[in-house]
Amino acid sequence: MSTTSSCTLPWLLLNIFLFLPLIPSSHIPPIVPTCRDKCGNLTIKYPFGSDFGCGHPDFARYIKCTSGELRFSSGTGAYTVSSIDYTTSTLVLTDLFMSTCSSMQNSGSFRLDRASPFTLSSQDVFILLGCSRTSPVFDPNEDLCDTGSGLHLCRGLYSCEGVTGIGLEPNGPISSCCVYQPIVDFGSGYGLDLPKLQCSSYASMYGFGGDETDPMKWQFGISLEYNDSYYTDACKDCEASGGFCGFADFRQSFSCICRGGGNSTTNCYGRGYAWSGTLEHNIHTKISFGGILLFWVLLLL
Ligand SMILES: *[C@@H]1O[C@H](CO)[C@@H](O)[C@H](O)[C@H]1NC(C)=O
Ligand SMILES: *[C@@H]1O[C@H](CO)[C@@H](O)[C@H](O)[C@H]1NC(C)=O
Ligand SMILES: *[C@@H]1O[C@H](CO)[C@@H](O)[C@H](O)[C@H]1NC(C)=O
Repeated sequence: MSTTSSCTLPWLLLNIFLFLPLIPSSHIPPIVPTCRDKCGNLTIKYPFGSDFGCGHPDFARYIKCTSGELRFSSGTGAYTVSSIDYTTSTLVLTDLFMSTCSSMQNSGSFRLDRASPFTLSSQDVFILLGCSRTSPVFDPNEDLCDTGSGLHLCRGLYSCEGVTGIGLEPNGPISSCCVYQPIVDFGSGYGLDLPKLQCSSYASMYGFGGDETDPMKWQFGISLEYNDSYYTDACKDCEASGGFCGFADFRQSFSCICRGGGNSTTNCYGRGYAWSGTLEHNIHTKISFGGILLFWVLLLL
């Protein structure tokens, strides 16, 4: 017995220490979100957030970072956020089903919730393509299409090779094209319902890339402005301490999420130590627990 125990005791001790981390500790810190300042290539700043619990809840409802891509969801689908300009509070969405000069295809609809913090930018131009002759956009009493200077945009797009994608010949008649006007007036409640408008596709542009005569240079995408009055002093204080502004619990109340882990209702000053403190506490618990276990093992031997 004594010969075997001299050999098993170090073995037992080794086992105890190897398996100790598996014993659940009495103090489990709550799962606090971690926030990152990038999503793929995009810099993420407040009110946007990279992960759930980061940023402002009004934005988190619409914008998520999935597999390194920032996605904007509305009632009509999910769109890729291709850029954010924090100085002008604007972002650009790309709709994969939208038409551009190089590629035209049947598109879905586009809608913005009225309650969202986003509105269409004033420079956005929506062009409806392949509309039926009976489309309500051509109602002479409604005046929904730009029939004046805007028509050069239709001519430009209908000169693109891409129009074959919606069953048209390049440089054909532009009677099925409409530079849609009422967009900006609708503000954030705006909706582009293609089945209702009887159009096959749409293109949205937020700039001409310096050359209004070359549709290959046009900047296709939907530019949105966002409400920038979400920045509070509490958030500025949190960011100054190296934290990310976020939200927690069912009330979605303000939470400052610290880089080293942990969160606070105010800021992250001193939080780096708080976290390692919890860790030390856990190790102590484990060691004293291991001591008691060892005592019983020795007693049994
Ligand atoms: C990130 O940026 C680089 C360089 O600007 C670009 O080549 C790459 O395609 C971008 N990646 C994504 C996922 O946008
Ligand atoms: C912008 O957001 C603030 C704070 O949430 C709100 O009080 C204000 O009404 C919003 N402004 C607009 C134009 O929606
Ligand atoms: C910290 O995060 C947890 C998990 O999300 C949450 O339950 C808790 O309320 C947050 N605490 C503070 C002070 O924000």
